[in-house]
Amino acid sequence: MIRFGVVGYGYWGPNIVRNLESLDGAQVLLVSDKSPASRKRAQKAYPAVQVTADASEVVSSTNIDAVAIVTPVWSHFELAKAALENGKHVFVEKPFTSSVQQAEELINLAEQKNLKIMVDHTFLFTGAVKKIQQLLEEGALGKLYYYDSMRVNLGLFQHDVNVIWDLAPHDLSIMDYLINEKPEAVVATGQMHLNGYEDVAFITVYFPGQIIAHINVNWLSPVKVRTTLIGGEKKMLVWNDLEPDEKIKVYDKGVSITSREGLYELLVSYRSGDMWAPHVEQAEALRLALGYFLDCVNNNHSPFNDGAAGLRVVKMLEAANESLRKRGALVSL
Ligand SMILES: NC(=O)c1ccc[n+]([C@@H]2O[C@H](COP(=O)([O-])OP(=O)(O)OC[C@H]3O[C@@H](n4cnc5c(N)ncnc54)[C@H](O)[C@@H]3O)[C@@H](O)[C@H]2O)c1
Repeated sequence: MIRFGVVGYGYWGPNIVRNLESLDGAQVLLVSDKSPASRKRAQKAYPAVQVTADASEVVSSTNIDAVAIVTPVWSHFELAKAALENGKHVFVEKPFTSSVQQAEELINLAEQKNLKIMVDHTFLFTGAVKKIQQLLEEGALGKLYYYDSMRVNLGLFQHDVNVIWDLAPHDLSIMDYLINEKPEAVVATGQMHLNGYEDVAFITVYFPGQIIAHINVNWLSPVKVRTTLIGGEKKMLVWNDLEPDEKIKVYDKGVSITSREGLYELLVSYRSGDMWAPHVEQAEALRLALGYFLDCVNNNHSPFNDGAAGLRVVKMLEAANESLRKRGALVSL
């Protein structure tokens, strides 16, 4: 049984507590939140759990083995550091930290103390991402050309980070998982309209092998869109995460261009074959992620979404912010 303390019971924290409570190998003993209203909600939902305003009570408690950090990103580093220093494993929300330097410090600390860090890149546990990973691994799409994602909706405005740090960690962690290449450079553009943080942004990531990724994140969209196109030499797919059933559609479409000797014109041929919608597992991703964290702690395995994976995402976020400040200059990684 892994005993947990959870810091942060705002929007996402209740999902963490609910899922931990439903897993056989986990028990939540302590919940901390600065906000009285959040503490009241937590106490009402879980009368047996001890609720406190002071996060240091959680990270230093001798009764717990692991801390889940579900607070805004600016607080992840201090809380994770204190938890690791007190000998606790850490499950931390995305994005891992506010800077590369902080991420590196936490990774070193966890290594010294032989503790686990897992970053909640929840999408990696969805049926959709697992299916796409399987298709790419089998070579179903052929050589990868591009990853193009639109992740837009109205709000929820964050008070401490721009839309890139809020929404792009999802795509960046998915790309980090799916694309077996180390990103080379980032270009980002964006604009702030309301509260001093960019609310609309466009990010381009260059990978070796002519693979390009583009992410459109926006808090000012009248409609919610969660659509990703992934194009390969052999096939292309559309992943619409808002579709209840057929989330992924694989299109047997492509283009080939040949130039024959003696001919000055290029011969372009388009292939337009069948479309199929593979079966996608429906289980709750966060439950699977937390179950995997328990396995890693119990069996002393490093999670694939460990601190190093969190760091790779933070590196891209930092580069994106730098590019944004320079109005779209290319920033090498
Ligand atoms: N994995 C996902 O899909 C997903 C989804 C939503 C949010 N998140 C992440 O979860 C984290 C929290 O986001 P949210 O939307 O729940 O934010 P939120 O503002 O709704 O909730 C954060 C809570 O933390 C509390 N808090 C802040 N600092 C604290 C401290 N030092 N001690 C105790 N309590 C403290 C606040 O009072 C608040 O109730 C962020 O890192 C966010 O990126 C992840």
